[in-house]
Amino acid sequence: MDDPLIERAREALREAYVPYSEYRVGAALRTADGTVFTGCNIENANYSNSLHAEEVAIGTAVAAGHREFDRLAVSSGVRDGVTPCGMCRQTLREFCDDDLTIVCDLGEEVATYTLGELLPETITEATLSAADRENAESTRGAEPTGDEGST
Ligand code: THU
Ligand code: ZN
Repeated sequence: MDDPLIERAREALREAYVPYSEYRVGAALRTADGTVFTGCNIENANYSNSLHAEEVAIGTAVAAGHREFDRLAVSSGVRDGVTPCGMCRQTLREFCDDDLTIVCDLGEEVATYTLGELLPETITEATLSAADRENAESTRGAEPTGDEGST
């Protein structure tokens, strides 16, 4: 294995806090300027508060002022080619285009995807902008009904 970003994901998973699943995940996200942010999964006794490695990596990167990314590597402790879950795919899509490269650790090799392959036809900011425009057009010039502001 000779993929520096996979190596960073492998290092990150050593810090995973996984007393419940014992399934370690590490992620390494590369920004447009080449900086790498990493994350690991951090579980919680209530289960649903558990953080995923990818969301820790992207959250740390965004908090540090980065919003452009070109490559993500994900690794689990058992090198099973784990891919980002559905929630993480959607979180990534907020800041990344369909062409984000995602490499998943299979031990001796990697499986390579694009975000668009893993999450086609999803909701983005563009979806909401289009809906906003449509709403603005359909209400423009309409007479007040008296119901405005009521719930
Ligand atoms: N996990 C991640 O960290 N990333 C994913 O996208 C898949 C799942 C973690 C969550 C939990 O701690 C463990 O893997 C088992 O689901
Ligand atoms: Zn996830």
